[in-house]
Amino acid sequence: MKQRPFTSSISVTDGALSEYDNHIVRRLSAMKGQYLDEPAYAAMLSQDPVLYEVYEIKRPESAGELMHGISIVHPGKVGDEYSMTKGHFHTVLDTAEVYYCLKGEGAMVMETPEGEWSVEELRPGRVLYVPPRWAHRSVNTALRGDLVTFFIYPGNAGHDYGTIEQQGFRKLVMEHDGRAQIIDNPRWRAREG
Ligand code: PA5
Ligand code: NI
Repeated sequence: MKQRPFTSSISVTDGALSEYDNHIVRRLSAMKGQYLDEPAYAAMLSQDPVLYEVYEIKRPESAGELMHGISIVHPGKVGDEYSMTKGHFHTVLDTAEVYYCLKGEGAMVMETPEGEWSVEELRPGRVLYVPPRWAHRSVNTALRGDLVTFFIYPGNAGHDYGTIEQQGFRKLVMEHDGRAQIIDNPRWRAREG
């Protein structure tokens, strides 16, 4: 891993990083239990489309380092629910994250363990600050075109996917009458124990 300053470039056409250590590809099958419309989810599984991709520059997992990269959420819906990332809390809950939207239209759905929630719109040029303790999920609310964001977070943050896999997010972003709408997640449940 590099110990001296270095640069990378982001392609404006497809959002890809010129240099990266990891390319994560997440398909529909990785999202079991997250989309509200289970029959629609099951019907799409045979094709198992790629929902989103992450290109990341890895850094040592220490507090002084900064992981960074690009997240690309492809457009689409499962039932009426827009294409989205799994979403997570950081394992070290007290770590923040910054997102810069490069392309597309979307939203970041966020919540704290204490029950606060927030949904912020993402548009090119917008900078989103996700404070410590807030779980976050990106949603592509455009039915055409990728949602491309640049992210940066502390090297020691880690990803806690299990909590969201188990309880979901309190809010969902669904298409209603051709527009994005935030609804209560009827299946949200607090973590046991
Ligand atoms: O660290 C982040 O929050 C992002 O890099 C996400 O990991 C990325 O957007 C993909 O989402 P997820 O990690 O929830 O699958
Ligand atoms: Ni994160």
